Amino acid sequence: MDKFIIRGGRPLTGEIKLAGAKNAATKMLIISLLTDEECVFENFPRIGDAEIVKELCVALGSEIKSIDSNLVIRTPEIKNTKAISLNQKNRVSILALGPLLNRAGEAEVPIVGGDKIGPRPVDMHLESLKALGAEIEAGPNSYKAKIKGRLKGAAITLKYPSVGATEQIIFASVLAEGKTTIVNSAVEPEITDLIKMLQKMGAIIEVGTNRTVTIYGVPKLHGARHRVLPDRNEAVSFACLAVATNGKILVKGADQGDLITFLNNLRRIGGEYEVTNEGILFFRARPLSGIKLETDTHPGFMTDWQQPFLTMLTQAQGESVIHETVYEDRFGYVKDLNLMGADIRVVNECLGEVPCRFKNRNCPHSAIVNGPTKLHSATVTVPDLRAGIAHVLAALIAEGESEILGVHEIDRGYEKIVERLSFLGADIRRVS
Ligand code: EPU
Repeated sequence: MDKFIIRGGRPLTGEIKLAGAKNAATKMLIISLLTDEECVFENFPRIGDAEIVKELCVALGSEIKSIDSNLVIRTPEIKNTKAISLNQKNRVSILALGPLLNRAGEAEVPIVGGDKIGPRPVDMHLESLKALGAEIEAGPNSYKAKIKGRLKGAAITLKYPSVGATEQIIFASVLAEGKTTIVNSAVEPEITDLIKMLQKMGAIIEVGTNRTVTIYGVPKLHGARHRVLPDRNEAVSFACLAVATNGKILVKGADQGDLITFLNNLRRIGGEYEVTNEGILFFRARPLSGIKLETDTHPGFMTDWQQPFLTMLTQAQGESVIHETVYEDRFGYVKDLNLMGADIRVVNECLGEVPCRFKNRNCPHSAIVNGPTKLHSATVTVPDLRAGIAHVLAALIAEGESEILGVHEIDRGYEKIVERLSFLGADIRRVS
């Protein structure tokens, strides 16, 4: 198992180019299954999660080639409707249900249980597919779904604007008979990017005001070419690296429009940025100060930004509070930051105002940070992808040499992270 050895204490400076977004690219592969024609994706990231979904698509009948950062995929026929023998850790396989039902009338996907960030149920996925006419049976290890004829459009209201459930409905209903409406849909930029690709493939999807999406089913989709949007989670990670280490980084490809809430909060704590034609330049304007913030669905402060931001707040003067409202157990990594000298307390109360599903449920979902604290080196193990970037950032701030174990989690979502951080002046190496 690989590990990273990091010697901290240096400001990171220079330029870094964003890879294509993991949470759009992996699903681009899934929507390519909706057509028998060729789809081409530019700026396709070379990351662990994309490899897992590529393997899934090949098992279902896809032919895939990579040429530089372009990926070419074609699925002339669905050879297998069971996506069950694949890596159980990847949650994207459930999104294959819609494409498989549309092209083959049946599908089987693994039941993926909870993980290090909470239970992660899929009730909204299954209820929505049932509303579109699918029959679904849950076995001990898998969900089996089938349809008679075509899926049929339906009016669906989500109880929470889930990213995955919104994608599930869109991917299933683009080829359904009639009109489907989603009320309380997720509106993340990655979903807009997937809608853009589907439009190029021949779909008719309207994005209305107030979290409403309407899909008018078409009988067939065709191949298309699309450039995957830049990864805004990478952008935030690199911005936090610049500000937390008191360096200066130009993040090439960073899109201001997708980062508005992050940029406001960065400025509030003393970070600063300049938007240029190439991307966004991040640096520190003054000594950092504490803040109160809450994670939320887009356009709120994203849950995947919480970990590098909280790590940066260990260097801010005074008290900071983060209320996590998207996942009920996403502060597991905090114990490692405390081991490195941080002063962070995680509590069950809702320390904020955003309506929260975890109220009175005894979930450790609010964190209180007191700073600034001097961080020192440690040996830590990465529990999940976003926590992993918090570990890397803490080690880059800390004095001395840290060892980060379990880095395959980081490789799932960050392309060539060691090479790219070294280029910014980080003292980091991978040891096998
Ligand atoms: N939820 C339900 N029922 C459902 C679906 C979701 O209760 O049927 C709950 C979840 O348990 C969670 C909340 O709704 O508490 C939000 O889940 P959502 O469906 O929005 O998230 P997701 O689709 O599972 C994607 C990203 C996550 C990102 C979230 C929120 C992918 C592969 N994953 O997950 O990214 O945090 O949206 O933006 O797109 C990551 O990249 O490391 C990551 C975890």
